[in-house]
Amino acid sequence: MGIRTPFGEQFGLTYPIVLAPMAAVSGGRLAAAVSNAGGLGLVGGGYGDPDWLEAQLPVVRDGTSHSWGIGLITWIANRHIVELALRFQPHVFFLSFGDPRPFAPMIKDAGCVLICQVQDVDAAIQAKAAGADVIVAQGTEAGGHGALRATLPLVPAVADAVAPTPVLAAGGIADGRSLAAALLLGAQGAVIGTRFFACEESLGLPAAKQRICAAKGGDTVRTRIFDVVRGYAWPAAFTGRALRNRFTAQWAGREEALAQVAERERPGYQAAAAAGDFDTAVVFAGEAVDLIHDVPSAAELVRRIGVGAEARLKAGPSLIV
Ligand SMILES: Cc1cc2nc3c(=O)[nH]c(=O)nc-3n(C[C@H](O)[C@H](O)[C@H](O)COP(=O)(O)O)c2cc1C
Repeated sequence: MGIRTPFGEQFGLTYPIVLAPMAAVSGGRLAAAVSNAGGLGLVGGGYGDPDWLEAQLPVVRDGTSHSWGIGLITWIANRHIVELALRFQPHVFFLSFGDPRPFAPMIKDAGCVLICQVQDVDAAIQAKAAGADVIVAQGTEAGGHGALRATLPLVPAVADAVAPTPVLAAGGIADGRSLAAALLLGAQGAVIGTRFFACEESLGLPAAKQRICAAKGGDTVRTRIFDVVRGYAWPAAFTGRALRNRFTAQWAGREEALAQVAERERPGYQAAAAAGDFDTAVVFAGEAVDLIHDVPSAAELVRRIGVGAEARLKAGPSLIV
């Protein structure tokens, strides 16, 4: 059993499920577990900490004989960190949030499949022109950074705009129903983040996983607050979807004031993050938290989402009169 799309076949996937490269959450162990279960595991290289990458990339490389990949945040990446990642010979390189052109040639020259995540149709066309082999249409429902368009209308619009380049859907996909829906919208697979945050192998702290299990979609908010306090100069187009907490309540609508005192606030914030105090520290998570109630293994999640989508797709013809 399985679900076959051209994208999935390219990597020998049982199900066209891609682990989102979640910064500090998608480590080597989780990426390997997803690839071993028949999906495609991507390590979340995030802001490009070389020590972290040197520790995590051998874990995925040695942990699976299947395809795997690495993701970086494009606007803060540099040639040195891309070269470091390429030394581990990933099959897939995932770039998101910024112009992929400075890095596309070196990634493709290394023989990697280049996947670019975008948030609107114009960026999809630009990513294709830059050499992207696969485009991810990321809707605003997504956990972590993103922009304003919603997944449901964005995915078919991007699929039309870049055809025949394969498109994956991201944002709000957490079970078999939403994977099946993404495929019917014209996507060849789904990039899934928040659902995998709450699994055994993710690097998220147990208290963060428990908050995801307890939260409702309405408990999430798109905000710059956590970027301001952490000192990351994100381009204005991107905000991060996170669980609301005491810190967002304190600073909502007062981002400029927070920027004034960010350096003073930062040590306390970092101490809270290290201690797992999520009344202050961020838990990036998307609207799909409504669908998340447990912390299973990554393999169980790939199976559950894949089998669920299969059942939905098989039931489709019964809807037709
Ligand atoms: C905790 C977390 C961290 C994330 N970090 C990154 C990142 O470093 N780079 C990236 O391209 N996307 C990142 N994302 C966004 C994912 O690539 C993806 O678009 C998103 O998770 C899909 O939506 P979903 O969370 O509803 O599944 C992150 C998402 C989450 C939940």
